[in-house]
Amino acid sequence: MSDKIYDVPAQWAERAYLDEHGYKAKYEASVRDPDGFWGEEGKRIDWFTPYTKVKNTSYAPGAVSIKWFEDGVTNIAHNCIDRHLATRGDQVAIIWEGDDPSQSRHITYRELHDEVCRFANVLRNRSVQKGDRVTIYMPMIPEAAFAMLACARLGAVHSVVFGGFSPDSLASRIRDCDSKMIITADEGLRGGRKVPLKANVDAAIAKLGDFEVDHVVVVKRTGGTVNMKPGRDVWYHEAADLVTSECPAVPVNAEDPLFILYTSGSTGSPKGVLHTTGGYLVYASMTHQYVFDYHEGDIYWCTADVGWVTGHSYIVYGPLANGATTLMFEGVPNYPTNSRFWEVIDKHKVSIFYTAPTAIRALMQSGDGPVTKTSRASLRLLGSVGEPINPEAWEWYYRVVGEERCPVVDTWWQTETGGILITPLPGATRLKPGSATTPFFGIVPQIVDAEGKVLEGPCEGNLVIADSWPGQMRTVYGDHERFMQTYFSTYPNKYFTGDGCRRDADGYYWITGRVDDVINVSGHRMGTAEVESALVAHPKVSEAAVVGYPHDIKGQGIYAYVTLMAGIEPTEELRKELVGWVRQEIGPIASPDLIQFAPGLPKTRSGKIMRRILRKIAEDEFANLGDTSTLADPGVVDDLISHRQNKK
Ligand code: WTA
Repeated sequence: MSDKIYDVPAQWAERAYLDEHGYKAKYEASVRDPDGFWGEEGKRIDWFTPYTKVKNTSYAPGAVSIKWFEDGVTNIAHNCIDRHLATRGDQVAIIWEGDDPSQSRHITYRELHDEVCRFANVLRNRSVQKGDRVTIYMPMIPEAAFAMLACARLGAVHSVVFGGFSPDSLASRIRDCDSKMIITADEGLRGGRKVPLKANVDAAIAKLGDFEVDHVVVVKRTGGTVNMKPGRDVWYHEAADLVTSECPAVPVNAEDPLFILYTSGSTGSPKGVLHTTGGYLVYASMTHQYVFDYHEGDIYWCTADVGWVTGHSYIVYGPLANGATTLMFEGVPNYPTNSRFWEVIDKHKVSIFYTAPTAIRALMQSGDGPVTKTSRASLRLLGSVGEPINPEAWEWYYRVVGEERCPVVDTWWQTETGGILITPLPGATRLKPGSATTPFFGIVPQIVDAEGKVLEGPCEGNLVIADSWPGQMRTVYGDHERFMQTYFSTYPNKYFTGDGCRRDADGYYWITGRVDDVINVSGHRMGTAEVESALVAHPKVSEAAVVGYPHDIKGQGIYAYVTLMAGIEPTEELRKELVGWVRQEIGPIASPDLIQFAPGLPKTRSGKIMRRILRKIAEDEFANLGDTSTLADPGVVDDLISHRQNKK
C-alpha cells in the first residue's frame, strides 16, 4: 500500500463545489437527516407530480423494500432531453468518435430530441408500451443511447446486453426478462474488426425454441450483409423514415423500472439487477456533478461501454440529466495506435476523462512516448473505475497523463449501487494512490468481521452499507427472494457488497477485491461458477473449478482446473478447444487464461471442492496452503502444484 498523500491543488480548492469542510458538513447533514437531504436534492430533476414522500426503505430480514420519492411522477427522457431544449437546444449533447479516427458526429440536444422521439415512435408502432422489456444489443454508436432513451421515453424497461456476449448469453438474458423486442445493428466495429451482432441475434433467437421474439430493429452501421426475416426484422432507417419526430414522454412513477442489467454473482446464472426511475436519476445526476466536478462547458468522456452500468450511469443518464456534452467512443485504446485516447482528448478538447485501471496498465506498458506526444492541455480531471487501481498505475496516470495538475478520482461502486458510493471529491479530498478514499453523500459504509461485528477505527474486513441511498437496485428482476438472499442475508439489516476492504487511520477506504466467487477480469465482472458450467458443458470435461489469479494487465486472470472424462488425453489442442468453447458459450471476456488438466481436485470428505487451496496454487502461494488435513486425498495437492501452469 502506498502512504503518499496528495494535497488538493490551490486552483482546485478555489473552483470546486466544496472544500474539505464543505464536504464534511454536507456529508454529516446527509446521514443525519436523509429525508431532508434527499428531499432537497430530488429537486434537481423535473417532476410532473412532485413527491411528498422521500425515503421509505427497510433492510429488515425477509422484508427488504426500497422506495424513494415513491409518489413522484416524472420521465427520464424528459429530464435528459426536453427540459434542456429551452436553454441548450443547440449545445452538443453527444460527441461520437468512431473506431476509424476519420469518423465522428456531433448531436445537439435538439437533434437528440428528434432522434429519440423517432426511435420511440418506431418502438411504439411495434406495440412497445410502458413496462415492456426491450433488449438492446448494440455497438457503441449514438443509436445505442437513442434506443435507451426511447425506451425511457415510453416507460419501457431496457436490458442492454454487452455486444461482446455470445448468442447463448444473449438468449438467456432475452428469456429471463421475457423481452419480445430486440434492438441491434448489422455489425459492430472495434479496432478495425467486425462483430457480427445481427448474426448473433439470429443465433440467439434460434436457441430460444418456443420463445417468440416479435421484432428485431436493426441499425445499419457497417453495411455488412445480414439476413432479414420478413415480418420480424426491420431496418431502423426505413422505419424511422415513416414516423414523426414528436413523441410525448410517458409519465412514470418514481419507482417504475427504468432498466434491467444482468450481472454476475457468486452462484447461478447472472442476475437481472433492476433499477427504477426517480432515485436512480437523482443519484446519477448528483454524483456526476460532484465527483467529476462537472461545470458548464466541460467536455466529458467516459470510455466504458453502454453494455455495463458505468455506461448507463456515466455516459448516458448522469451526464445528460446535467445537460453535459458526453463523448461516446466506438473503438479501443490501442487502435490505430497506443496514442488513441490522448488523440481523442486533443481532438475534442476533453476536460474530464474517466477510464478503467486495466486500460491504464495496458497503455503504461508502451511507455510515456505515446502520451507525451499529445497535448492533453484541455484535461482537468481524471477518473478510474471498475477494479482496484494499483498505486503504480495511479501514479503514472496522475504524473504522465494528467501532468500532476489533474486530480484522480478513484470511484468505487457496483452495478447494484447505480452510482458511485466511495470516491474522492476533487477540491475536498486529499488523494492517496490506490484508495477510493471516503463515502459520497448519504452513504454509510461499515466494515464487518466474519461474524458481522461492526469494526471501528483502522481495520480490515468485509464492506457493507448500513442504509439505503436513492440509486440502489430495488430487486433482482422476477426474484425478490434471491435479491434478499444475495445481498441482505449474510449480514442482517445491511447491504453486503461482496468486497473486502481496509480502513486506515485517516478513515480512508481501500477496496481489496471480491471476497466471494466473483472475479474481475479487465474490469469485467465474472462469476467463476458461470465459467465452470460452460466448461463442464463440454463433452470431454468431467469437472472444472475456476479461480482468479493476479494478472499484470487484466487485474485478475481466469485460471481453470479441468478434470477430463476417463480415457480422454490432455493435449495442447484440447486446451485450445476448451478456450474456444468458453468464448463461444459466454463470450471472449470469459476466455480462460490458463487451463490446468488435473486428474483430481482437492475435496473435503463430504465432496466439497476446497477453492481456497486452488486459489493459493493459482496465486503461486504454495507455502501458504493452510490446513489441508480435512482433504479426502491430500496427495491431490502435490500433483496440482507440480503441474501448475505458468503465468502469461
Ligand atoms: C470492483 C462497476 C476497487 C468491486 C462500476 C466491485 C472496484 C465490482 C472499483 C463491481 C474501485 C469497482 N476500486 N474495486 N474503484 N470499482 N470495483 O458491477 O469489486 O461491474 O464489487 O460495477 O468492481 O463491478 P460492476
